[in-house]
Amino acid sequence: MTRHFLRDDDITPAEQAEILARAVEIKKDRFADKPLVGPQTVAVIFDKSSTRTRVSFHVGISDMGGIPLIISTASSQLGGKETPQDTARVLERMVSAIVWRTYAQQGLEDMAEGTTVPVVNALSDDFHPCQLLADLLTITEHRGSVAGQKITFVGDGGSNMAHSYLLACATAGAHIAIASPDGYGPRADVVADATRIASETGGSVTVTTNAVEAVTGVDVVVTDTWVSMGKEDEKAARVATFAGYQVDDAMMAMAKDDAIFMHCLPADRGFEVSASVIDGPQSVVWDESENRLHAQKALLAWLLERA
Ligand code: CP
Ligand code: NVA
Repeated sequence: MTRHFLRDDDITPAEQAEILARAVEIKKDRFADKPLVGPQTVAVIFDKSSTRTRVSFHVGISDMGGIPLIISTASSQLGGKETPQDTARVLERMVSAIVWRTYAQQGLEDMAEGTTVPVVNALSDDFHPCQLLADLLTITEHRGSVAGQKITFVGDGGSNMAHSYLLACATAGAHIAIASPDGYGPRADVVADATRIASETGGSVTVTTNAVEAVTGVDVVVTDTWVSMGKEDEKAARVATFAGYQVDDAMMAMAKDDAIFMHCLPADRGFEVSASVIDGPQSVVWDESENRLHAQKALLAWLLERA
């Protein structure tokens, strides 16, 4: 049966480990794994802006012997003129997989329901699971493993990144904490799903408003923009509310001495993170961005073997 990757918990702990192990191998020999020879085409559709996701999928699909078909929604019939289901039924006749960055998670669900080829979430309002595969690969490289690590996300707990951190880290057996201001915490159903998964993997889930407490003694400190795409109208209110949640030198000093700092990028220095932290010695953000390439290649290869 065709597998899709719409949320981080669409894959089991064993499957997540398998994909990450494959990413490690792919990274060692970038052009060796060529599951897209033919060449097969993969459609990569963008409703929102992107640098890393666009480039990493384009390059990754090319590396694997395939052809990336990058589509901007504004110049397509998606986005009000045609349903995701109808679009998928056309694309599946010609492409091997569909990768889509969009707003509502429901659109991805609709597209997956209407097609026989794998659908991959390249970021929605609710989740960013491809980013988390890259982040878990990065944590493994810098900390030796993800299981058992203490990982704290500071910032917008209701964001796609916080939700994906909850599900992906729980799946990996890590101890994940989300620290965000009152009213900006993660969705209750996502916390419940992550807590259930963590109870099976040996991980744990903590949700708090106390950022200092949440970063004390941890291995990994993560943040992301306070103003995700689609939330631009709320910028002034968010900047005021999140003021005490900047990851700065004082906050990093609470974590372990050898803790790493992560950010999916793009970053707003002086807001969610100080320049001294993101450009400092504990930051692994450039490795993290490179790992989008290797992790997504492993994901696509894995999905196509099951399609
Ligand atoms: N991190 C990430 O997804 O970046 P882009 O928005 O540039 O794709
Ligand atoms: N949370 C951010 C991630 C950008 C890659 C956003 O949705 O804009």
